[in-house]
Amino acid sequence: MTVTVTQPQVPTTAPAAPQAHERLRVTRQRPRWSELRELLQLRRPTLNPVERRLGAALSIGDLRTVAARTTPRAVFDYVDGAADAELTLRRNRDAFAAVDFVPDYLSPVDDPDLSTSVFGHEIAMPLIFAPTGYTRMMHHEGEAAVARVAARNGLPYTLSTVGTSTVEDVAAAAPEGENWFQLYLTRDERLNKELLDRALAAGFTTVVLTVDTPVAARHLKDIRNGLTIPPSLTPRTLLGMARCPSWTLNKLTTSPITFASLSGTMDGGAIDAVRVADVVFEPTLNYEHLAWLRANWPHHILVKGVLSPNNARRAVETGADGVVVSNHGGRQLDRTPATLSVLPAIREELGPDATVILDSGVMHGQDIIAAVALGADAVMIGRAYLYGLMAGGERGVDRAVSILREEYGRSLQLLGLGSTAAIERQHVRVP
Ligand SMILES: Cc1cc2nc3c(=O)[nH]c(=O)nc-3n(C[C@H](O)[C@H](O)[C@H](O)COP(=O)(O)O)c2cc1C
Repeated sequence: MTVTVTQPQVPTTAPAAPQAHERLRVTRQRPRWSELRELLQLRRPTLNPVERRLGAALSIGDLRTVAARTTPRAVFDYVDGAADAELTLRRNRDAFAAVDFVPDYLSPVDDPDLSTSVFGHEIAMPLIFAPTGYTRMMHHEGEAAVARVAARNGLPYTLSTVGTSTVEDVAAAAPEGENWFQLYLTRDERLNKELLDRALAAGFTTVVLTVDTPVAARHLKDIRNGLTIPPSLTPRTLLGMARCPSWTLNKLTTSPITFASLSGTMDGGAIDAVRVADVVFEPTLNYEHLAWLRANWPHHILVKGVLSPNNARRAVETGADGVVVSNHGGRQLDRTPATLSVLPAIREELGPDATVILDSGVMHGQDIIAAVALGADAVMIGRAYLYGLMAGGERGVDRAVSILREEYGRSLQLLGLGSTAAIERQHVRVP
């Protein structure tokens, strides 16, 4: 059989160039200063280096880059790092990255309502500040600065038991704020009761009981960096501090770092990092402790560190009002699943009434949307605000919140959603 292949008709010659008289006429003029001035946009340079750096940061990742420059290596690694091989740290981020969004257009989204409610209390967006210990080590303004930013932005703030400011300090810094207290239940019942009484007297509304710390996990970076809390002066740490003169000057000229809520409670004296680990990591913690807490705390209780439906159900049956689905940001047991991947089953187990908050790996406003779509009432952030704090103190935390709010609001609009309440399961696809 003969096959005839016909070639497509391709012009063999280029079209003739237009003749001089056919060319488009361009009208020219002398450059006018009045028009140039509009284009030039000469702005006064920002002289304050902190403001310049923060203004240039467009994402939480940018704040992290600034933080790595402004904070001694050992301190930055303490925040940034995680347990063992850091597998869970990566899984958390990978799970968020794997979510697809399914937009739903043609509804008004001109002024999206970002607010939501947690425990019947309205908050500005589904975002809560997670408890982080030793915060004044990251930046001398510490917990008080973070609590002030939270209050200003209408968001709850959680103070850690191993915070470097007391419940009273935080209440004084953010009297209008919705302040929560994270509890490490210790063997010392008198100490537990005293911490709760002080938190209650200081107006704290919710207690977050952390349960994923039966023992301390190993953070290899901290061991290699020789990190102690407060940082001790070795040739290596001194070198790190010399790289960050502003951090060092602030550290030397402000009050020493202590475990403020615990100091004075423990035998009336200061408490160092070794003793604090003995006190707060409690291998015998069990549901009876939670029942004790229920009997001794009149307001809401969340159990933080839950990763299974069974654990979540038993926590609520024992008296908790909800759970924080958390793997401690990958800082405790490595190889735990990404929190986003276990969230739907936990929500299903608890039903719509229990409060379910998710943390670990939230670094972008879109992560908040993904978590809400998969069943969370709100998310907590840890490192995201600590990067801001290390990059620029209170102003840096403000910047972190404004970045996340902008990303969240814009992404809601791009999804075609006019409010947090409009986010539904159908708006995301997960592998
Ligand atoms: C530096 C640092 C200190 C932390 N300290 C505490 C703490 O004292 N108590 C606690 O329950 N969780 C603590 N966490 C865990 C956070 O509350 C939260 O679960 C975690 O940071 C969420 O992950 P993310 O950092 O990726 O947002 C800490 C986290 C970091 C980064």
